[in-house]
Amino acid sequence: MLAVGIDFGTTNSSLARCVEGPKSQSPAVELVRVPSLTGPTESYRSLLYLEQVRQQGKNRLASWTGPAGIEQYLSREARGASGRLIQSLKSFLTSRMLLSTEVFGIRVTIEELIARILRDLREKAEQQFDAPITSAVAGRPVRFVGAENEEDNAYAQGRLRTAFELAGFKSIEFEMEPVAAAHYYESTLQHDELILIGDFGGGTSDFSLIRVGPTVRRRGRKANDLLGNAGVGIAGDAFDAKIVRHLVSPHLGAGTKMQSVDKLLPVPGWVYSKLERWHHLSFLKAKDTMNMLANVKAQALEPAKIEALIHLVNEDLGYRLHQSVQKTKSELSAETAARFLLADGAIEVDALAQRAAFECWIGDEIAAIETCVDSLLRDSAVPAAKVNMVFLTGGSSFVPAVRRIFEQRFGGERIRAGSEFTSVAQGLALKAR
Ligand SMILES: Nc1ncnc2c1ncn2[C@@H]1O[C@H](COP(=O)(O)OP(=O)(O)OP(=O)(O)O)[C@@H](O)[C@H]1O
Ligand SMILES: [Mg+2]
Repeated sequence: MLAVGIDFGTTNSSLARCVEGPKSQSPAVELVRVPSLTGPTESYRSLLYLEQVRQQGKNRLASWTGPAGIEQYLSREARGASGRLIQSLKSFLTSRMLLSTEVFGIRVTIEELIARILRDLREKAEQQFDAPITSAVAGRPVRFVGAENEEDNAYAQGRLRTAFELAGFKSIEFEMEPVAAAHYYESTLQHDELILIGDFGGGTSDFSLIRVGPTVRRRGRKANDLLGNAGVGIAGDAFDAKIVRHLVSPHLGAGTKMQSVDKLLPVPGWVYSKLERWHHLSFLKAKDTMNMLANVKAQALEPAKIEALIHLVNEDLGYRLHQSVQKTKSELSAETAARFLLADGAIEVDALAQRAAFECWIGDEIAAIETCVDSLLRDSAVPAAKVNMVFLTGGSSFVPAVRRIFEQRFGGERIRAGSEFTSVAQGLALKAR
């Protein structure tokens, strides 16, 4: 039976298996590759695009995930179709408020929505590996987004398990994502190390302090090789939120006023809070909200900005907004300034973002990540000097302010990085073996 490793990420997912070579060699890891508009990719966007279809006289939801979801979403206008694109579903797993949602009048649970992504990924893997797949080692963050205690984490993991089962998996074992990244890092190592793993994704930042290397591999891993885990539900999506808040929302009416009978009131702020979070954005398009926005526009002192907001929600431009934010954020990882562009109908945002300003915007998030790292070192009673190497992985590890946290504590020469989008899935595959 083929057991695979699956990293269901907030932004990107990957699936891998181990391929046995000659006895003397360590096993190779093979990742699932899927075609996309930009060429074959091993990181499968964790997004879901839904359209309503009529089958056998009944309304049903057709879905596309990953790169196919993006293509179907982008071609919707040309096909005269409309649909819903949902991102960052993993961030809902702790929420007891949002258990299900209505899409085109059909009620679906969050688990079912996630299962659609996992099932597609499983089927892609079955095709590539030419074997049935019902067994997996799945990753989980140390602390799920929104988790306040271990009960919340257990609740979220239970829901993730349900999603895997709905997707056709029969046997699922969970491993902490940073521990999986450590398994991957260890496979590249010829000597023993005490390593600090930092995995910065879309939803969470996760850390493990762990002994790795040939000795551990030879004698088998013991529980006390792991000195500690820590995590915080703050990562790339939280950075994106600050870009939306500072660069985009003001153009869509945030902070402006409306005339209500005899007094001036601020326009409702909660709409902009939802706009900032990818997992909430696609849920804004509800009848009540659209009616409310139409009323706000009628009373607004700057109605053109509210019109732009209505256009964004009504035309399902969340993905376009996400792409613009990703582009600017990624450029700011490499350059000290980047342009932000978003133009569509009533929306026109063309702004220059400075890295220094971005670092101010995400100051609280960086401080929370620092506190998490420091508390892990303190709770495990390991001084920074005892850590041999730091391995940074995950897409948000490209953010210079994130790297600086480790440069300040460990010095640049003790920092390694790599396989940003696949280290966790590769480590999970090694564990599955
Ligand atoms: N060059 C870059 N600079 C800054 N951020 C980046 C860069 N490239 C990718 N990212 C960010 O990395 C995040 C995705 O990383 P990754 O795929 O590791 O997350 P994930 O595994 O899906 O999420 P999680 O582990 O939290 O569930 C996104 O927020 C993305 O914007
Ligand atoms: Mg991840």
